[in-house]
Amino acid sequence: MLREALRIGSRRWYSYKSVRRPNLAGTGAPKVEPAKEQPGASSTVENGHGSLAKQLRAKILATGPIPVAEYMREVLTNPQAGYYMNKDVFGREGDFITSPEISQIFGELVGIWLVSEWRKMGSPSPFHLVELGPGRGTLARDVLKVITKFKQDAEFSMHMVEVSPFLSKAQAQRFCYTHDTLPEDSQLPYYQMGTTATGTKAFWHRRLEDVPHGFSLVLAHEFFDALPVHKLQLVDGKWQEVLIDVASGGAKDAKQADFRYVLSRSQTPVSSVFRPMPNETRACLEYSLETERQVGLLAERIERDGGIALIMDYGHFGEKTDTFRAFKQHQLHDPLIEPGSADLTADVDFKLVRHIAETRGNVHCCGPVEQGLFLQRMQGEARLDQLMAHALPENQQIIRSGYEMLTDSAQMGSRFKFLAMFPGVLASHLDKYPVVGFS
Ligand SMILES: C[S@@+](CC[C@H](N)C(=O)[O-])C[C@H]1O[C@@H](n2cnc3c(N)ncnc32)[C@H](O)[C@@H]1O
Repeated sequence: MLREALRIGSRRWYSYKSVRRPNLAGTGAPKVEPAKEQPGASSTVENGHGSLAKQLRAKILATGPIPVAEYMREVLTNPQAGYYMNKDVFGREGDFITSPEISQIFGELVGIWLVSEWRKMGSPSPFHLVELGPGRGTLARDVLKVITKFKQDAEFSMHMVEVSPFLSKAQAQRFCYTHDTLPEDSQLPYYQMGTTATGTKAFWHRRLEDVPHGFSLVLAHEFFDALPVHKLQLVDGKWQEVLIDVASGGAKDAKQADFRYVLSRSQTPVSSVFRPMPNETRACLEYSLETERQVGLLAERIERDGGIALIMDYGHFGEKTDTFRAFKQHQLHDPLIEPGSADLTADVDFKLVRHIAETRGNVHCCGPVEQGLFLQRMQGEARLDQLMAHALPENQQIIRSGYEMLTDSAQMGSRFKFLAMFPGVLASHLDKYPVVGFS
């Protein structure tokens, strides 16, 4: 049986053409000093990603090379061993750090932006505060503080869209006073619920489709970069898909990849339905069917129920070709080595996001604009000065450098972008009263 599997493996090694990757150095998110490993953490992770690599290998040997998107989905959200599912991966001790974790100014300004745009729309009540992929819940906590302060008499509930059981608990601990996980067989569209200290109800959903209808303020920070991407290449005028196959002869040491890229020999379901954007000039690109699906759902929701969505992520406007990469302890890492031990990510294609939003619903988009510019236009410097004036001298340097990290174009200021979605019927109103931060 084993010999048979190995034979299949070696035969297939010759039948697929390997694809080389460019050097990705320099495409990474900001780095902080690598942290020391937490005692006891590595053995659990070791077991998890060891079994994930085995599962992926067995699947590929049985059914053939898989799309990069399938590999990414399994590595990040496999219910047993997925990267996000069972551990805290953020901050100095983890693999990467995000803007809301760097400075409270980020969440506060996002909250003020949401409240001011909601007021311009006539302060509809009740409303849902929705966040896609809330991580540790820090952004939700900071935005909640602002909304609670400025919402006047409006009623609202919170809706977190999160697949990770571990992170959903961490989120509830961050901004709820009490919370409960529902039994598996509850048949409800949420799996956890809680109540904040001020009595606001919070619900956790596995999918955006499960969030109840209603006027919604939706946030997505570093959510879309975690959604699976397909890699496509134009060969003799036809789009072909780059797939992931097992490495020849299996991995020999920790530095050697367990898997390799190959070019599909025939059309795959995605390569056959893929339609490039008008005037596409790239011969190789990343395409996220899942992003297209989720942005479509968002656009339909905003048109149908009213609301605002703010997408914040690193990305490009349809010009980059190869950004799929991994991060481990704040360093770039080969995504094909030890799957499950590192974060996998790909830059968001904001041109595609905007195109889908505007074609799937009657939606008016603003941006993308660079994060640094958005925060400056939202008077980030004034908030920084306030915080500095009240900070202990020993904290002042951390507060200032945090804000600089968010806004400096050599750090996170340019790479991260903001794109907002409003109901299309408001387009002329928004021309008259321009959206703060975007102009
Ligand atoms: C990179 S983290 C961003 C965390 C947070 N927004 C922040 O900026 O700190 C991605 C988040 O999305 C969640 N996630 C990833 N894929 C998801 C999916 N398909 N559906 C729902 N949540 C997902 C992860 O569990 C995690 O909470």
